[in-house]
Amino acid sequence: MKSILITGGTGLIGRALIPELLEQNYKVSVLSRGFATPHPEATLFHWDVSAAEIDLKAVEQADVIVHLAGAGIGEKRWTKKRKQEIINSRVASAELLFQSVRETGTKLDAFISSSAVGWYGGFSRPQVMTEEMEAASDFMGETCRFWEAAADKFQEAGIRTVKIRTGVVLSRESGALSKMALPVKMGLGSALGSGKQIVPWIHIDDIVGIYLNAIEDASTQGAFNGIAPAVDSFDNFMRALARVLNKPYFMPAVPSFLLKAAMGEMAVLVTEGSPVSAQKIIDTGYAFQFPDLDKALADLYLRN
Ligand SMILES: NC(=O)c1ccc[n+]([C@@H]2O[C@H](COP(=O)([O-])OP(=O)(O)OC[C@H]3O[C@@H](n4cnc5c(N)ncnc54)[C@H](OP(=O)(O)O)[C@@H]3O)[C@@H](O)[C@H]2O)c1
Repeated sequence: MKSILITGGTGLIGRALIPELLEQNYKVSVLSRGFATPHPEATLFHWDVSAAEIDLKAVEQADVIVHLAGAGIGEKRWTKKRKQEIINSRVASAELLFQSVRETGTKLDAFISSSAVGWYGGFSRPQVMTEEMEAASDFMGETCRFWEAAADKFQEAGIRTVKIRTGVVLSRESGALSKMALPVKMGLGSALGSGKQIVPWIHIDDIVGIYLNAIEDASTQGAFNGIAPAVDSFDNFMRALARVLNKPYFMPAVPSFLLKAAMGEMAVLVTEGSPVSAQKIIDTGYAFQFPDLDKALADLYLRN
């Protein structure tokens, strides 16, 4: 039985991935700053990235590491301190894992790291973003570049490495969708900014499916965009949300300058977005369960 160690396994993606891995007969463990396991069948190990402390037993028993840990990108204003925390929680943690793998002589089958479509930057460009493009030079682009470079150390050491450039994960539990749905539920849904910016979304079941694929398919290696093949503007997205929630959609768009005043630099997360290609992941043979937005939202909101 192969053993999968998940960092940040208490988060949105980890909590959905764990039961699927258990179902597929993997042994699952979680490396966390806290002391509460996200699943009764997952073994909990402890680390403190800022103090460079880690329970080496976590790494020793792992066949695959899935690195999901990281301070919430859209959670707090991007002050200088917060930006450093966003980077360190991803990069210093990956470096600590790398050192621990070396120190314990662990023979890993694969290292699978999250990354984000932020690799392509907070811009709205008409061309489709593909994996071979360089990282943007804004904060998100730089963060993803450091994050992926830390993962690449595993590849350089001969360990198969996969980086999933994740889009906005749609789940009813938490994350961006619940925040977007709140005004819609009150009948106050509207676009943000121009409304033409693209929302690179993915259904939670598909991001879990992509992680499972990355674990199981030994030919998968390198960076992959983790987003649905459909291309939806912010305005389309909010309209679809209003339709599925059976709510009106008539409010004027919130202007970008107000969002910038309220959110600072972080406003680019909602006011900008370019189309991102899902072709490379499709070419691995991955079949999306929810390639279409209306079906994805219907599954999340109308399924019992
Ligand atoms: N969800 C999305 O829409 C989305 C989109 C793009 C990229 N991603 C990336 O995918 C990864 C997983 O996403 P998610 O939505 O599951 O994230 P999440 O719900 O925010 O969970 C991330 C986990 O990281 C750990 N963490 C938080 N702050 C930390 C810190 N300062 N130092 C070390 N660990 C810390 C926490 O685990 P413990 O408290 O147990 O330590 C937390 O449960 C993240 O890196 C995220 O940036 C997600």
